[in-house]
Amino acid sequence: MLGYPIAMDFGDPAFLRCIEPDCSSRYPAGERSYSCPACGGLLDLAYDFDLPSSPEAIKAVFKARKLQSEPAYLSGVWRFHELLPFLPDLSRVVTLFEGNTPIYEGPLSSEYCGLPSLRFKHQGMNPTGSFKDNGMTTGVTMARYSGASAVACASTGNTSASMAAYAARAGIQSIVFVPAGRISHGKLAQALEYGARVIELEGSFDDAMRIVRELAVETGLYLLNSVNPFRLEGQKTIIIEMLEQMDWMPPDWIVLPGGNLGNCSAFGKALHELSSLGFIDRVPRLAVIQAKGAAPFYKLFKSPDCQALVPINHPATLATAIRIGNPVSWPKALRSLQWTNGIVEQVSENEIADAKAVIGRDGIGCEPASAVTLAGAKLLVSNRTIDRDASVVCVLTGNLLKDPGYTMDYHSRKLRLETADGERMILVTRANAPERLAADKNLIRRHLKL
Ligand code: F0G
Repeated sequence: MLGYPIAMDFGDPAFLRCIEPDCSSRYPAGERSYSCPACGGLLDLAYDFDLPSSPEAIKAVFKARKLQSEPAYLSGVWRFHELLPFLPDLSRVVTLFEGNTPIYEGPLSSEYCGLPSLRFKHQGMNPTGSFKDNGMTTGVTMARYSGASAVACASTGNTSASMAAYAARAGIQSIVFVPAGRISHGKLAQALEYGARVIELEGSFDDAMRIVRELAVETGLYLLNSVNPFRLEGQKTIIIEMLEQMDWMPPDWIVLPGGNLGNCSAFGKALHELSSLGFIDRVPRLAVIQAKGAAPFYKLFKSPDCQALVPINHPATLATAIRIGNPVSWPKALRSLQWTNGIVEQVSENEIADAKAVIGRDGIGCEPASAVTLAGAKLLVSNRTIDRDASVVCVLTGNLLKDPGYTMDYHSRKLRLETADGERMILVTRANAPERLAADKNLIRRHLKL
């Protein structure tokens, strides 16, 4: 048995269900399992939905809650709780008022990729600066609900920052496992400041993930990576909120980065449920974008039988958030592609770097992993997978300030990628280096032609 029951009173309609079609075993929602005790498959949080009224009436309720002052309704996650009905008591949520993130137009980005109706949903505007907050409010709420005394995760940075913040709010100790020297200082600093115990592992993210999964089963540490189905329930609301902001008229495409593949899993589940429940009459296509040096899901998607993911041993990308060779959620992500007629693409380091600079010039900005979306959209327009008149939403997953080192290196033309074959420079086309001058007004006037 991988899981073990905990004392918790859960009524219907929530339960855990193995995603493997030949198994589909069901377990109580309160059972602390991160994989199916019967077959080892991933677990979904599933529901026998019994909505109180019609989808149109519920949409009106969601909207009305924006004007209410209860803490749970100030959250852009719990405001939609009818679509994630696992918590009997909303007064116990652990929230930093996450979600509520904007959708932006970006004229320069639109022009750059050739899509007049491109928009960005900026999850980097969350309390800790990444989309992880949407999932951490549900994950940590559940951890507290189940009496966990310590929570843990493996992370490329953002999960650890977010988990540390929410655990601090809940008064629970957090322990994070990060690959030593491989995560940005912005993210590491957050985890330290929020009081996490930070274990810098001499190994990769994939090593950290394997070890923390084993520790969670052996020791009772509450695991908050995206194999925890409660995390993904929160991340579903990125899609729900996006559709609400678009008056429930789905875009043609939603473009997102792919790393450990939790987000792709959550987005597909959200779209599948919204469509089955009659909230939307058309399902947008998902386009998952990976960095070329860390693209095991792309390789799976392109393989003839699309059966099993082959891990990459030495993933290499400067988008450190998605430097992952063995993504745990790939079976759920593959299911999301099936549900949404989705696709996977990969982009190069200089495509990522330039796309990021363009998003910055729109006054928006994001971290490198998020910029794969614009680079991917450009590629998919140029190879005619996406029509020029399609409506497309790119999900920006992390804030510009998460990784200032990358941005400085870009603008000073010092971006270098270490790979198994040595180091190489990344060519960039939009560098905006600082100009150092003597403190001399006349010189400055001449220099700036004032
Ligand atoms: N974008 C950012 C900024 C991320 O931090 C991550 C993942 C992703 C995209 C990929 O999302 O894993 O759901 O496919 N970051 C994790 C972490 C792995 O530990 O912070 P995914």
